[in-house]
Amino acid sequence: MSGRLGCERFGLSGPAAPGRLPRVTPPDRSLAEYWPVFGLRLATPRLVLTPLQDDDLVEVLDLILSGIHDAGRMPFAMPWTDAPRAELIPNTLRYYWTARGATTPESWQLPFLVRRGGVLVGLQELMAKDFAVTKRVETGSWLGAAHQGDGIGTEMREAVLQFAFDHLKATRADSGAFLDNPRSQRVSEKLGYSRDGTAVLQRRPGERAVEQRFTLSPGQFVRSNWAVQVRGLPLCRAYFGI
Ligand SMILES: CC(C)(COP(=O)(O)OP(=O)(O)OC[C@H]1O[C@@H](n2cnc3c(N)ncnc32)[C@H](O)[C@@H]1OP(=O)(O)O)[C@@H](O)C(=O)NCCC(=O)NCCS
Repeated sequence: MSGRLGCERFGLSGPAAPGRLPRVTPPDRSLAEYWPVFGLRLATPRLVLTPLQDDDLVEVLDLILSGIHDAGRMPFAMPWTDAPRAELIPNTLRYYWTARGATTPESWQLPFLVRRGGVLVGLQELMAKDFAVTKRVETGSWLGAAHQGDGIGTEMREAVLQFAFDHLKATRADSGAFLDNPRSQRVSEKLGYSRDGTAVLQRRPGERAVEQRFTLSPGQFVRSNWAVQVRGLPLCRAYFGI
């Protein structure tokens, strides 16, 4: 080995400049080689969706800290956005790291970053249990407050629904929204979901909330005139248990 640390393999000709650490992963390598779902990419007319990776977490935290909903409201069954900043940040990191670490072909949870013109606008999650048998997916999503009300929520949900129905061959997609979240309910209605009963939950400590459940089959799905572009699926079919 000619260089003291073998740095030239990584495109470095010598020790890193003061204050800068050398890159550990060679520029021509990526973790997608070993965790292929990181190579997945969905594209719609306005949006690009890619599985969340650690390098994206600073932007995700910035977007969360910029605000998702008014303090008086709570669109989430787990009231994670109520936590003070000092707890919200580590809780959020733990949540995404745990979700990824717990993912198996039998129980997967895939948070897609959603970018519009390169700018992170929100997250669209797609998850399933025993997908090979159930062929059923669930979705959950949020957008930064500044990006809401412009059709993005509908477009990103449609992206993962087209991906699930057309590419993973799902036969059912379920979702839910609290009765006091008409915007999220409207997204489901526009895409053709039918109402599928209600659930009663303790949303915040001591606060009872009713969730409207929605279900969608490929035949009911109200599609736009575009088709989601999917890249990288063949290498990650095992991730989805198919
Ligand atoms: C829910 C959410 C993802 C939807 O995304 P979005 O980009 O804001 O939604 P869209 O613009 O695609 O569609 C919203 C629809 O609701 C309608 N809408 C908005 N406010 C409404 C209200 N008060 N009552 C009824 N409909 C309403 C809009 O008019 C639009 O329907 P239209 O296209 O028929 O006009 C986004 O608003 C969000 O992140 N909210 C906070 C977090 C959240 O609620 N997450 C979901 C938890 S279940």
